[in-house]
Amino acid sequence: MKPKNIVVFASGTGSNFKALHKATLKKEVPARITALISDNPDAGALKYARENDIRGLVLSPKDFDKPAAYEDELRKILEWESPNLIVLAGYLKKIPDEIVDLYKRRIVNIHPALLPKYGGKGWYGMRVHRAVIENREKESGCTVHYVTRTYDEGPVIAQVKVPVRVDDTAESLAARVLKQEHLLYPKVVRFLLSHN
Ligand code: GAR
Repeated sequence: MKPKNIVVFASGTGSNFKALHKATLKKEVPARITALISDNPDAGALKYARENDIRGLVLSPKDFDKPAAYEDELRKILEWESPNLIVLAGYLKKIPDEIVDLYKRRIVNIHPALLPKYGGKGWYGMRVHRAVIENREKESGCTVHYVTRTYDEGPVIAQVKVPVRVDDTAESLAARVLKQEHLLYPKVVRFLLSHN
């Protein structure tokens, strides 16, 4: 069987990327992460990629004159990498519609809330956790979903719930959710690759 390839997109620390990479090394996810694409040259994810022999690329729409030139470059990179699955792990830029259409049902994202709650443009990271605390929600969690043309609206693949405690801060809640993300994402990726 041909080995499966994954391309990861990340903008920040990249702890989900690292968790997925570790799962591939342990063969819990039988695939290879061939490239990490980031819009942020200072991303921890990029540093980790370079230290672990994963091709690390910086690609940001703002470095191109026209959106079409950016899309073209991204399309070429992906064609070359030929991923079975594209995994967004804390990636804050929108994936261009053309790419979403080309890789239909082959791009997934993780979101730190129970979608459809606290999802959509502008909802990411600590903003989500702060709002959950302010609204005195009893539970939160994380969601893995397919990426479609609209932010956070693609079909949900899996969710894990966590309790919100009365003495939680956004930081303590974020840590509880992130712990679950690191367990959930590799499991979902494994499942999806076994079916594609
Ligand atoms: C994660 O909590 C992920 O769910 C969230 O960003 C964090 C990235 O952490 N993603 C979003 O908010 C997307 N809307 P990481 O860089 O340590 O993996």
